[in-house]
Amino acid sequence: MFSLNKLSPTITNMIRFDHSHVMVTFHQYERDKRPSVKKALADTICDALEIHAALEEEIFYPVMRQRDAGEPFMHKAEPEHDEMRRLISELRRTSGSDPRHDKLVMELMRDVMHHVADEETTLLPHAEAMLSKDALSELGAQMTRRRLELVGPKAGKLAKSHAVGFSGSGTALLVGLASAVFAAKAFAPKKPWKSNPA
Ligand SMILES: [Fe+2]
Ligand SMILES: [Fe+2]
Repeated sequence: MFSLNKLSPTITNMIRFDHSHVMVTFHQYERDKRPSVKKALADTICDALEIHAALEEEIFYPVMRQRDAGEPFMHKAEPEHDEMRRLISELRRTSGSDPRHDKLVMELMRDVMHHVADEETTLLPHAEAMLSKDALSELGAQMTRRRLELVGPKAGKLAKSHAVGFSGSGTALLVGLASAVFAAKAFAPKKPWKSNPA
């Protein structure tokens, strides 16, 4: 049966897009920028990473675990996300004018680069070898619907903080959000992702 979900970008390409978006934002962070700009960039990075990690853990990793139980990266993927979450909560508690803020951003960037490199060189190619294009697109559509649920309630706050100081990331967020809204309407017009008993 034909499903509109098959027109969705694949989950692996969405993951690559998220990685590029967060790396671009890391590269906009400079030690001599204003503290408020540094804080806004760090907020964007933290929000994007938290949402990305949740999407991988809820939708992508379980499928990979089921299909390829021997994949060694799967044993360290979630502990690495947890370490990233620890750094994120420390970063959120640190003022943009505190020199530790720069240090924490650099530490988080190093960890993320390492983790992303592992995903892009092993996990994503494995997924593309094991799953059909249609299955990858179905998972992509699932990820978009879940992203909308995670971003939706704080969209106003996110758009505001992400618009401070720079434009690239704010644009990416809005584009991501607009496509999520489109996808939610296009892919599930009568059956929303939240079960509605009424
Ligand atoms: Fe990950
Ligand atoms: Fe990732």
